[in-house]
Amino acid sequence: MSTFKAPKGTYDLLPPDSAKFLAVREAIAAPLRNSGYGYIETPGFENVELFARGVGESTDIVTKEMYVFETKGGDRLALRPETTAPVLRAVLEANLHKAGNLPVKVWYSGSQYRYERPQKGRYRHFSQVGAEAIGAEDPALDAELIILADQAYRSLGLSNFRILLNSLGDKECRPVYRAALQDFLRGLDLDEDTLRRAEINPLRVLDDKRESVQKQLGDAPLLRDYLCDACKAYHEEVRELITAAGVSFEDDPKLVRGLDYYTRTTFEFVHDGLGSQSAVGGGGRYDGLSEMIGGPALPSVGWALGVDRTVLALEAEGIELELPSTTSVFAVPLSEEARRVLFAKVTELRRNGVAADFSFGVKGLKSAMKSANRSGARYAVIAGERDLAEGVVQLKDMESGEQVAIGVNEIVAELESKLG
Ligand code: HAM
Repeated sequence: MSTFKAPKGTYDLLPPDSAKFLAVREAIAAPLRNSGYGYIETPGFENVELFARGVGESTDIVTKEMYVFETKGGDRLALRPETTAPVLRAVLEANLHKAGNLPVKVWYSGSQYRYERPQKGRYRHFSQVGAEAIGAEDPALDAELIILADQAYRSLGLSNFRILLNSLGDKECRPVYRAALQDFLRGLDLDEDTLRRAEINPLRVLDDKRESVQKQLGDAPLLRDYLCDACKAYHEEVRELITAAGVSFEDDPKLVRGLDYYTRTTFEFVHDGLGSQSAVGGGGRYDGLSEMIGGPALPSVGWALGVDRTVLALEAEGIELELPSTTSVFAVPLSEEARRVLFAKVTELRRNGVAADFSFGVKGLKSAMKSANRSGARYAVIAGERDLAEGVVQLKDMESGEQVAIGVNEIVAELESKLG
């Protein structure tokens, strides 16, 4: 073992398990690619102000969880705790929104960093696949994203998840609700910190997990009862479109998300087999974020699904993904000359698109065949001095165990035709 360990709250993805993570990322990305979302990649760090303004000065993410550092040049940067604000920053910077083709629909996949208290399903480094649709106010867009996330989870075989849906109102009706909620909270028996929070960000108090707080919130006013007509109509349309698509959801009037940029539609995907860290994904509309970071009005909506928790959800449901073996052919040379000949054949197979691997290092037949087995290859190609003297190699079917001699010059074509 090395002197070093992965930092607290992080873990390494190692083969063969890492293949599951790739498959999950791919399964989430596939429906997005198929629906007009283009791939976007932004840096792993950004100006710290982007998150302070975008995600919200009073959120846990900004006050407690960001990895902030100063560069030698004196810039204050933060490892990204989320990627919505960076994506919008990038779109505005490149003027994609001015190209006349709104919404700008993009998807991303990558690492996020939050200094959280680690526990199962909650890490300091984790991975999301996300989608953002920027610059259109259309309930069909909100519905599209919810339907695509549902499709992604289902394509992985997941079924034990629920979609929680709420509307957080807009800049017309939210302030009225906010004031009513503040009035209510001021009358409760809350500690100083919580009372302060109620003044800065009262909606966040609804999300307080402590029993002592929750039991006082039973009669708290609900945003649902304060939505303006435009927000109500918008939300109703989103609900109808999702329902028509056969996607079931639950109305959750208490759903508030941990980021401040949300307006109107908000949703969370929760999995019932994960214990306390049950949110496998979440998102919503963020109509005001662009203006908050200095851009024009660009109503937008998006989500991010947690790859780590989705893998845990697969395990909780006992789902084994069918991951095709990556290696089709494994070459086992038994002499110096055979090494040269088979290495050339492996190179040729690879150039022709056949996944092939080779027994490296000096190994006996037994241990080389063990490697061939472990590789999951469908065929092994074995050759020793005697084979080459006869101008052949041995082609072994790893499933049936059957072995036949094939001419050295025919082996590549033979394998290609066998593997289709
Ligand atoms: P979020 O709810 O903070 O939203 O994160 C989305 C998902 O990332 C969560 O549902 C969870 O699966 C995963 N996640 C979050 N924190 C952790 C952690 N510490 N360890 C493991 N997984 C975690 C956002 O990040 C928004 N940017 C989503 C969005 C996109 N809204 C609009 N567009």
